Amino acid sequence: MELIFSNLIINWYLSHKRILPWREISDPYKIWVSEIILQQTRIAQGLNYYLRFLEKFPNIATLANASEDEVLLQWQGLGYYSRARNMHKTAKEIMEIHHGKFPTDYESIRALKGIGDYTAAAIASFAYNLPHAVLDGNVFRVLSRYFAIDTPIDSTTGKKQFSELAQELLNLKNPALYNQGIMDLGATVCLPSSPNCEDCPLQNSCLAYGNNTQTNFPVKEKKLIQKDRYFIYLVITDTTNHFFLHRRIAKDIWQGLYEFPLVELTHPFNDPSQSEEIISALSDEFSDITITAVKPTIKHVLSHQNIYAQFVEATGKYKKKCDSKYIKVPKSQIANYAVSRLTELYLEDV
Ligand code: ADE
Ligand code: SF4
Repeated sequence: MELIFSNLIINWYLSHKRILPWREISDPYKIWVSEIILQQTRIAQGLNYYLRFLEKFPNIATLANASEDEVLLQWQGLGYYSRARNMHKTAKEIMEIHHGKFPTDYESIRALKGIGDYTAAAIASFAYNLPHAVLDGNVFRVLSRYFAIDTPIDSTTGKKQFSELAQELLNLKNPALYNQGIMDLGATVCLPSSPNCEDCPLQNSCLAYGNNTQTNFPVKEKKLIQKDRYFIYLVITDTTNHFFLHRRIAKDIWQGLYEFPLVELTHPFNDPSQSEEIISALSDEFSDITITAVKPTIKHVLSHQNIYAQFVEATGKYKKKCDSKYIKVPKSQIANYAVSRLTELYLEDV
């Protein structure tokens, strides 16, 4: 059974695989970079980030020696910035603890900051052909459908059950090929809402296909709860063609990135009479604020939050306190600061 399943996948993969730069290599550093990038984006977009990142930081040492700002700038637009910060910390840790050499066994790889079960199994199998099965969203979907397993994949029991099953099914002779194969099958054939079962090598023995219940799987326990937040960005200009930016330092979204002075409200900003509230929130550091334009609200969806953002343009005077939260940046220098995709979208328009 195990062998039939894994052989079907490997044979399919050998004739259908997508040629991707991180597949034809065994450098664990590059594979690590590719996996972290691909956790949060589609291949077409991830490819550019991957190539640019490796051009800037071709090995562990260059990444470890970079500043956090440089790393975040490479990551700009990808989201999940804590992953970039963790990679940077981990690169430093590898320099110190492993003398600059990427660890070669699963346990040591898994022990690195920011590397979970999935990424550790991916690196161990792709770089060293070690027998560790990957379990990502694609694998959950293929396995839950093939075996018609209705245990919720986000429950403790489900995670255990699926990871044991994935490990049993692993082809021990070819862990790298098998892991790439089952992930690719999930990504290109066993699609979330309309799987192409007619093109699937597993069709004959797939239970969900047999019962025509493909889209009942995988089962999830928790509905994701979205939180709504209301961000008002005050784009203040003085007479000298500068922007004012602050760096997000709190443990929150976009930690480490730069943005315009922000007032977060608990409600939408739709009434001009609320301008006072916004102006007074910034009056410690700016005076004579006059609003000149209020841009339309943008809804920016993140994995657990909906950000309702408004960019409000204004003129004003900067009080230049010595412990200021803000830095004064010439408009022409803005591209040197890593900003969120939301702020980038605004800047593309001005
Ligand atoms: N998604 C995550 N890892 C991947 C890989 N190695 N190849 C293609 N897509 C992926
Ligand atoms: Fe997925 Fe369809 Fe293949 Fe079953 S037959 S594994 S549902 S693509």
